[in-house]
Amino acid sequence: MDTFMNNTNTDDDRHRVVVLFGSQTGTAEETSLRLAMQCRGSAFRCHVSPLDAYDIKNLVNEKILIFVCATTGQGEPPDNMKRFWKFIMRKNLPSSSLDDVKFAVLGLGDSSYAKFNFIAKKLHRRLEMLGGRPLVEVGLADDQHEWGSDAVIDKWVTKLWGTLLRDFPTPAGKSSPLGNSLPPPGYHVATYKKENNQEIREQEFGTFDEKHPFEAKLIENRRVTSEGHFQDTRLISFDISSAQSDLVYQPGDVVMIKPQNLEENVKEFLEILSLDPDDLLTFDPIEDDDITMDLPRPVTLQRLASEYLDFMSVPRRSFFQLLSHLAKDENEREKLIEFGSPEGTDERYSYANRPRRTILEVLQDFHHTASVIPLNRILDVFPLIRPRAFSIASSPTRHKGELHILVAVVRYKTRLHKPRRGLCSTWLSRLREGETAKLWLRSGGIRFPWERPCVMIGPGTGIAPFRSAAHERHQVGESGDVIFFGCRNELGDFYFRDEWEEMKVRLHVAFSRDQEEKIYVQHKIAQCGSELWDLIDRRGAYIYVAGNSKNMPDQVKEAFLELLRNNGNMTPEQATDYVTKLQQSKRYQQETWS
Ligand code: 2AM
Repeated sequence: MDTFMNNTNTDDDRHRVVVLFGSQTGTAEETSLRLAMQCRGSAFRCHVSPLDAYDIKNLVNEKILIFVCATTGQGEPPDNMKRFWKFIMRKNLPSSSLDDVKFAVLGLGDSSYAKFNFIAKKLHRRLEMLGGRPLVEVGLADDQHEWGSDAVIDKWVTKLWGTLLRDFPTPAGKSSPLGNSLPPPGYHVATYKKENNQEIREQEFGTFDEKHPFEAKLIENRRVTSEGHFQDTRLISFDISSAQSDLVYQPGDVVMIKPQNLEENVKEFLEILSLDPDDLLTFDPIEDDDITMDLPRPVTLQRLASEYLDFMSVPRRSFFQLLSHLAKDENEREKLIEFGSPEGTDERYSYANRPRRTILEVLQDFHHTASVIPLNRILDVFPLIRPRAFSIASSPTRHKGELHILVAVVRYKTRLHKPRRGLCSTWLSRLREGETAKLWLRSGGIRFPWERPCVMIGPGTGIAPFRSAAHERHQVGESGDVIFFGCRNELGDFYFRDEWEEMKVRLHVAFSRDQEEKIYVQHKIAQCGSELWDLIDRRGAYIYVAGNSKNMPDQVKEAFLELLRNNGNMTPEQATDYVTKLQQSKRYQQETWS
C-alpha cells in the first residue's frame, strides 16, 4: 500500500508554510513567489517549490500547505506537477493521511476551456478526501477576466492570510503578511565590475526543458502574408537536427520559446535605472529555503535585462505597491500608493491596463523612483520573462530535423502614442538566419487519431497544428480529413496555398473580407452539414478547433450544435449532450490562445 512517511518536522519558531506550485506559463510560480515575499519578516516561514521537486512523502508532516496550480489545455496538470498528480490520485492512499494538515488550493485557468480549473477543483476535493482541512474555498482565477487573473488572486490571497492570521496570531516583533510595509529583501546581491576579457562560461545540458533549453538556429524567417496585408505573419523554421532524439514531437504538440527584450528597450531600461550594463551580479537567497532563482552566476546586468526581467508587460498591482515603498519623491510616492491600493483599482486600470502601458513606460513616468530601485529589490519588483507556447506547424516526417512555428506579429494601437508590440512575436520577427532561440517541448496539446478522419477548424494562425497534421497524415495516404481555414483575403493571408493542393486535403476556405458580407469558418461548417454529420456520426470523426480564443470557439461550437439539430434531428438538449460526450471522449478538442 502506498503511504506517507513519518518523520519529525524541524523548523524555527516561525510557522512553516509550504507553497507548492504546478506552473505552465509561469503565473503559478510568480504568485507563489509573491506569497513567499509576503511571508518575509512575518511569523510565517515560507518554503516554495514546484510540486514535482517536493518530496511528496513529507506532505503528512506539514501543518500548512498551499497549492497554486494551473490547468492546461484539455484539463491536464502542468508538466512540473505530473508526478505529484499521479501519486495523490492513487486509490490506495489511506483516507485519513492528511488529518493534521490545513490546506488551500488556488487554481489558475481560462474559462474559454471546457475544463476550467479542473486540476485545482479536483485537487481540492482529493485533499479533503484524504482528511485535509481547507483553510479557504478553492480559488478559481480566470485569464478571461477583464482585469486578468489578479482579480481573483488578490481577493483569495487576502482571505487566506486573514484565516491564517486568525489561527496563528502574529507575535510581537513580527510583521503581518497582509501589512502594508515593505518586506525585508530576499536576496544578498554582490556586484562587481567586469574585468577586461573576463569570460563568462555557461553550462551545457543534454535534455531540454525550461532550465536547460535547446538553442535552436533559425533556418528561415519567411513572411507568409502579402506585403500589403495588414498583418505580418511569419513562418519561422528552426534547425533541430542535432537534437533529434531529445526533441521528438507529433502533430498537435506545443513548443515553448523563451523570448528576449529588444535591444533598444534594454538600453532604455538600464538608463532609467542608472545601471551599468557590464556590471556583474550574484544573487544569494537569504532564507535558504527560498526558491533558488535560475540565474547564471555571475550575470551581467545587460543579460539580466535582456533575458530575464520582464519590463514590457503591463504592471500588476503589486508592482505599484512595492515601488511606492521605494519612492523618495513625494509626488511619485503618493500616486504609487494610490495605484497600489485596492481602492485605486479603477485609476490603475485606466492608467495601466486599458492603454496597455508597459512597466518601462511606467518607469519613465516615475523616473525619480526608478533611479533609486536597489539591486536587492530588482527580483521583487520585476516579473520574469515567461516562455510562450506555440503550436508546432511542421510535420516531423515531412520536415525532418526542423521545427516550424507560425507567428502573427502582434502590433496594435491604444490611446498611447507608441503602438503596442508583442514581446515574443516582435523579437521572433527580428530574428535572422543563424541566430538562435531557446526552446523546449511541452507535452499535452492536441492528439490526432490515425484510424479516424479529422475535421480541423483553424482561422488565422490557428491553422498551424493542422498544417503539421495534414503533412504528417498525407505521408500515410488518403485520410478523409476536412480542413476549414479562415482568412481575410485570398491574396492577403491565404497561406500555404500550394501545400494544400499538394496534400490534396479537402479544404474549405472562408475569406472574411473578399465580399460585402463576412464569411467565417462557422458559415462554411453550416454549408457542409450533411457531409460533416456523416463523418461525425458514421465514421467517428474527431473535431479540432484552434486559434483565437475570443468568440470563435463558441461560435464554431454553436455551428456544430446547429448541425446536430438539423442534420442529426436532435433536440437542443440532445445536441448539447452529444457535444459534451464528444468533448469527454476527446473527439472534440480545442487549442486556443489570445
Ligand atoms: P475578420 O478579421 O475579417 O473579422 C483569421 O483571423 C480570420 O478569422 C479572419 O478572416 C477573421 O475575420 C476571422 N474571424 C474573426 N472573428 C471570427 C470569429 N468569431 N469566428 C470565426 N472567424 C473569425
